[in-house]
Amino acid sequence: MDLDKLETWAERWQMRFNNDKCKVIHMGRRNQYHHYTLNGKPLGKSDREKDLGILVNDKLTWSSQCQAAAAKANRIMGCIKREWACAATLAVGAGAVGYLAYRSFSCKDKCCRSMVNQDIQKDNPKVVHAFDMEDLGDKAVYCRCWRSKKFPLCDGAHIKHNEETGDNVGPLIIKKKES
Ligand code: FES
Repeated sequence: MDLDKLETWAERWQMRFNNDKCKVIHMGRRNQYHHYTLNGKPLGKSDREKDLGILVNDKLTWSSQCQAAAAKANRIMGCIKREWACAATLAVGAGAVGYLAYRSFSCKDKCCRSMVNQDIQKDNPKVVHAFDMEDLGDKAVYCRCWRSKKFPLCDGAHIKHNEETGDNVGPLIIKKKES
């Protein structure tokens, strides 16, 4: 038998075959499914094997090759889908963070520009106070931070405001010259 010749040849050239990597594929409808041995050990059976990248099956059809190609394509598609989903999520997240940061800064900016007076006489179009010089007495301390409960006089609220915001506002002090 040819396998015996192969075995003898391998013995002579000291290139023994690896039995675990040798398989038998029984082909044809009238195949008698003989058992084969190599180096005295029985060879395993298989209904398909890959040869030079092509799957060959016992019916000599392309179905195994097509199934393997489709499975591989689906795996790659799944991988691409997951990557895109991940990238889209990251892009949306980065966009949301950017938008919130923009909103936060622009709002802060607007607030700083437009909300000096947060709650003093908000129904008035303009808050104005006028005093006669004669009525000021020796010393008068006026609020410039617009946080005082005694506005227009300073009640020390600028200290808390400065601590909370890092601002550096303080009152306007008007006093008579000591003579
Ligand atoms: S409370 Fe506004 S400056 Fe003092």
